[in-house]
Amino acid sequence: MAQMKTAAAIVLVLFLSAAGRSQASHTCFGQEDSSECEEDALSLLQWPRRTGRQVSLEAEAERRASSQGQEELQLDEEFESKLEGEADLDPACAKAGIADITEYKHGNLVKSSSGQHFFPTLSSVDHLDLEAEPQSQVEHVLISFHGLSRDVDRYFCTAVGAAKKVGKYEKTLVIAPLFPKAQIKGSEWSKSRRLQEAVSVHWPQPDFVGGADSNNINNNNKNNNNNNNNNNNNASGGSHSSYKMLDELVESLVASKNSSLPNLKKISISGFSAGCQFVSRWSFFSMAPLKAKSNGIPVGIIIGDCSSYMYLDKHRPAASCVPWENTGPNHTCQHFQEPAAAQQEQCPQFDDFKYGFSRMPKKGSYLKSFRESEAVQAEVIDKFRLKDLRFLIGQNDACNCQFGKPSDYETLGAVCVRQGQCCDSFPAPNCRIMDARCPAMLEGSNRLQRGLNYASYLRDFYARKGQFWSPPVATFTGVLTHSFGEMASSPTFSSWVWGV
Ligand SMILES: *[C@@H]1O[C@H](CO)[C@@H](O)[C@H](O)[C@H]1NC(C)=O
Ligand SMILES: *[C@@H]1O[C@H](CO)[C@@H](O)[C@H](O)[C@H]1NC(C)=O
Ligand SMILES: *[C@@H]1O[C@H](CO)[C@@H](O)[C@H](O)[C@H]1NC(C)=O
Repeated sequence: MAQMKTAAAIVLVLFLSAAGRSQASHTCFGQEDSSECEEDALSLLQWPRRTGRQVSLEAEAERRASSQGQEELQLDEEFESKLEGEADLDPACAKAGIADITEYKHGNLVKSSSGQHFFPTLSSVDHLDLEAEPQSQVEHVLISFHGLSRDVDRYFCTAVGAAKKVGKYEKTLVIAPLFPKAQIKGSEWSKSRRLQEAVSVHWPQPDFVGGADSNNINNNNKNNNNNNNNNNNNASGGSHSSYKMLDELVESLVASKNSSLPNLKKISISGFSAGCQFVSRWSFFSMAPLKAKSNGIPVGIIIGDCSSYMYLDKHRPAASCVPWENTGPNHTCQHFQEPAAAQQEQCPQFDDFKYGFSRMPKKGSYLKSFRESEAVQAEVIDKFRLKDLRFLIGQNDACNCQFGKPSDYETLGAVCVRQGQCCDSFPAPNCRIMDARCPAMLEGSNRLQRGLNYASYLRDFYARKGQFWSPPVATFTGVLTHSFGEMASSPTFSSWVWGV
């Protein structure tokens, strides 16, 4: 308990010191992409910083502490203890009846000339174990992607819990892939025989959301302790992009229809938070969903609560679509246009990759053909609307602690305030991790609004080309602001994954 208070105090001190910086300084504290933090993101339109809000926030926290549900209080404690390393396994695991995840640790060998790398996963069945009996009970695959915290145990156990809740666990192969920060040895990760000699792919930065190659290949980091470096350094292959990892996973599942998964009917892929960023962009570039479908296995893609989305041209929501307030679950946007010259001047990076296609990174192998060929660009854009992409967004994920008016937090207080501070990410362990850089602010003022704007945008973009696409959009409710648990246990999620 004492330790818990200390941790809370440290968090508070960090918060206060971040809040105390001047307007011109870099607000990198806890932002979703710390790798890109050097940019001063907060200058666009000189939005006013919060002032004099602390008192009302504290009052709100006190009110909440006396009235909030036990579950939320308990979650607070669980996160504190997780931060202190007391709890090894995410609480979602106990809820799903999983006490030890060792037996779920598997992985896919990565296709490359070296054959030495694997993509780690937690999965309820090892579909690549050719010595095992066919898993004829499996009809569904649910792939669940972690966010910025890379807490793969939470995403695995939460998905298992969701499947159990609707009585579909037996029929579902649940897979939660891990994009590790550092290299993992196959022999330490898993008992699986085929992984013993391999080392994992890894991404020290959160650039996996944009399809970056694993550090094993484009390795410019001298401090990296990968001894195999020289042998595996083949930058032309492009087989180690994070997007390629998911392609190969999907391909391996489709191929398993002929062996370990004879009754496989459908693959669902869910991405939440930074996982939403990864999955939504992958779903644009990748042809794997369409290939799987042509092989008889439809792929459903469910994304929720992205901090930012990738726009397909320079149009952005009109100012009327991005007010600094909670515009609610029924918000839509009818007007998209290129930002005015003055706005572009204030936010020159507004269309840079990953927000748009300008200045795509030169290094990424997966995006090479797209980057270099207009014909490929036209084809990829044309095929996007043929994929089964759906939006499932948290109704409460409408906070923004960098911008916004104090009155927003007074009305939203119950979900935007935690331990006396504005929190746009609860229950994520860091409170202020939503992207508040100017390219993200042009997409909307909070995650709910950004998701609804982007769904409207896709309709608008294809309508301008004389084509029709209206991806399904739904929201889920709950008590937290930013929770995969609430997304996965929502009725819409069960309906989209299992048809129940
Ligand atoms: C690098 O990858 C390319 C494409 O996969 C392959 O043709 C080539 O043989 C590889 N080179 C080495 C040195 O492994
Ligand atoms: C499964 O086997 C059939 C018949 O051998 C073959 O035509 C098909 O291409 C295979 N499917 C996959 C996905 O490998
Ligand atoms: C959103 O629309 C639905 C259906 O029209 C309505 O029942 C609901 O009250 C609306 N919600 C809000 C917050 O306006």
